[in-house]
Amino acid sequence: MDIKERINELKARKNAVILAHYYTPFEVQAVADYVGDSFYLARIAKSSSADIIVFCGVKFIVESAKILNPDKKVLMPDVTADCPMAHMADLKKIKEMREKYPDLAVVCYINSTAELKCHSDVCVTSSNAVKIVKSLPNKNIFFIPDKNLGRFVAEQVPEKNVLLNDGFCPVHAAVSKNEVLDAKKKYPDAKVLSHPECEKEILDISDFIGSTSDIISFASNSEAERFIICTEDGIEFELGTSMKDKSFLFPATRPCCKDMKLNTLEKLLYVLETEENEITVDDEIRERALLPLEKMLELGRSK
Ligand code: 13P
Ligand code: SF4
Repeated sequence: MDIKERINELKARKNAVILAHYYTPFEVQAVADYVGDSFYLARIAKSSSADIIVFCGVKFIVESAKILNPDKKVLMPDVTADCPMAHMADLKKIKEMREKYPDLAVVCYINSTAELKCHSDVCVTSSNAVKIVKSLPNKNIFFIPDKNLGRFVAEQVPEKNVLLNDGFCPVHAAVSKNEVLDAKKKYPDAKVLSHPECEKEILDISDFIGSTSDIISFASNSEAERFIICTEDGIEFELGTSMKDKSFLFPATRPCCKDMKLNTLEKLLYVLETEENEITVDDEIRERALLPLEKMLELGRSK
């Protein structure tokens, strides 16, 4: 049996399901039962009837799956896969902001630690942040941890006072404007599609801004045939397999998240075999972090 056959045999025998983010290696996405962006994967994790969830992503996404599914065994191929941005907010600042603005809603991008979620009112992902912030009754919003997504949301919801935090995604923030303009010079017909975690100077020269799944839908529904993609390069697997007649280019320095890429096929097989790398969340943290996650699922339901 080759590695894929062994994964499929173990999956069936153990009633396990494999979830993978669009940024994981191509071969991992190819064996996964569900591939998607953070919001889609959170919803799948919540509704899964499998006994074991093997989640190929980074710690904050996998932790969220465990918080939503306390009775399931949730495994991670590599427990060191962590998102640096998830740690880029602090509790002291949240406390100060709450004191300064009594009506404050702390809106927490799902790319954050469970501890930060415990101190937040609602979670969001890049695919539902605008909709959820719009639906909140609060005027003052403290958006943590990503300043770039926060600024993008603020522009879409001018009726709110969105206060920004200083966090950022090192992968998206490194996308170079000159490299995007070079690609555009070479292919003037190409549409620039960007993730809102990119810096403002990239969003300002983009034809479309959206989450990974929104980028895929936009490309699929567009008349254009060529696209310059400003997000993590794992998305190329879905773009390339579902739209063979279109071409997808990346800036010369391809955005690549080394943490997402820690999810290899070999490690996936290993955790399915051994059931090691189980993710646990302390009960008190789980109960508190569940509230903003459930609120997100409720407010984001119609999408
Ligand atoms: P989405 O999956 O919401 O597009 O977020 C991108 C991301 O950086 C996940 O790590
Ligand atoms: Fe974190 Fe950025 Fe990697 Fe997503 S792409 S996991 S936000 S470092």
